[in-house]
Amino acid sequence: MIARSLGKDGFVGEIVGFDCTEESSAQMTRVKELLFEHRVLVLRDQQLSPQSYQQFMEGLGLTICHVLQNLTVDGYPSILKISDYVAPDGKPLGVLDGGTYWHSDMSYLPPLGFATSLYAVRASERSGGTSFVDLSGAWDLLRESPELLEMFGCASPTDALNLNVIHRFGNRQTRRDHGAAQQELSQEQKSRVPGAVHRLLERHPVTGQIGVFAPSGSAMKIDGLSEEQSARALDLLEDAILANCDVYTHHYEPGDLVIWDNVTTLHRGTGVHPTENLEECRLLHRINVNYAAVTS
Ligand SMILES: [Fe+2]
Repeated sequence: MIARSLGKDGFVGEIVGFDCTEESSAQMTRVKELLFEHRVLVLRDQQLSPQSYQQFMEGLGLTICHVLQNLTVDGYPSILKISDYVAPDGKPLGVLDGGTYWHSDMSYLPPLGFATSLYAVRASERSGGTSFVDLSGAWDLLRESPELLEMFGCASPTDALNLNVIHRFGNRQTRRDHGAAQQELSQEQKSRVPGAVHRLLERHPVTGQIGVFAPSGSAMKIDGLSEEQSARALDLLEDAILANCDVYTHHYEPGDLVIWDNVTTLHRGTGVHPTENLEECRLLHRINVNYAAVTS
């Protein structure tokens, strides 16, 4: 199995010559190694039914059902539909515009170790893509910036290791930009995602490396700082990351499978163009797994 890097410092590995429907346990071990090495994996020309797709992802970890169960594939509660198709009666085929802001999937849940995959069932040239930010250099940015450390109330980089962040489902950027995108949930759905507390600097559950975790999206408050101080510090860190860390944007073609580690990356959708034309619509099937929940 060969992976070539599409970005800097090994960011984004494209695996070539691999058919996901013919995987063995040794190959799945290799796919996992490549995921943690490259943070984002791209596998092209796959032909996956919902069943074979789910089976492949179960080889990476424990599948996690999304809170938006009304938009899943019939018979597959762990496969969420993401689509820009809207039927003439106004009903969307899947999630229309859930993630067009920087975030890490499921960072509002307590466990650590979520990977996300998107499989392109349909896509066209006009379809939106996904942009990824490599967080592997973010800890260096923070510890080498006295200004950033001070914003977080830290006298030294060591203090930053103890910072706790309160995560809630949503997008922190709505504080400074009232028009910023945000996924709306029903009261019942909200009750199932009460939030979580994570360290700003988490130890990766597999590689053991310390890195900045999910500074965007659901990261709302720093324990010990006010909401306003927290937002200012987190926004400054996010701005520094976006200005300095590597970004890769993937444009989907049918058959593309993209898998990423949410512990070491941020991502966002690049834009949605709702269409009533099935021929030019995008349909992505999404599966989340927790790779840290599997014991072998
Ligand atoms: Fe997302």
